[in-house]
Amino acid sequence: MISKDIAKAINTQIAHEQSNSHAYRAVACYFKRLNLHGFTAFFAKQSSEETEHAERLLAHLEERGGTVELQSIPAPKNDWTSPVEAVKAVRDMEKNTSKDIIALYELALAKKDHALAVSLQWLVSEQVEEEAWSEELAATAEQLGDSPAHLFMLDHQWGKRVGGKKD
Ligand SMILES: [Fe+2]
Ligand SMILES: [Fe+2]
Repeated sequence: MISKDIAKAINTQIAHEQSNSHAYRAVACYFKRLNLHGFTAFFAKQSSEETEHAERLLAHLEERGGTVELQSIPAPKNDWTSPVEAVKAVRDMEKNTSKDIIALYELALAKKDHALAVSLQWLVSEQVEEEAWSEELAATAEQLGDSPAHLFMLDHQWGKRVGGKKD
């Protein structure tokens, strides 16, 4: 049986992952409005992946006999002053998520909840990837700026990453 503190912390993280999904969906819609279909597809996929993160945590909580308590998800930011601002916001969101995941992992260790610690290892590794691509994207976008030619190039490049292609 899982402790009440741990169950509460997992429920909080489920809400964070769901709100990340919501936030990515809004980013995808923003890029759709700009007719940047590569980014639209890329961020829509990120949105689905965040839902998967929430589902995996939810499954762990259920398997351990904890009570899932879903929370309300705040409205995401829906508009940005520029694509560069949007991808910088994404990078910051992933950085904050990493902090949350590490805090949850540390709680698991402190409470000697080894089952949760083991189960969170995939999420700790996932955050390494999430931070890497979001840092790369924000840095490239900042370097190149918001000129239409650069945006179309980046859009094409990042759209190819959907489905595992990378160039
Ligand atoms: Fe996530
Ligand atoms: Fe993420």
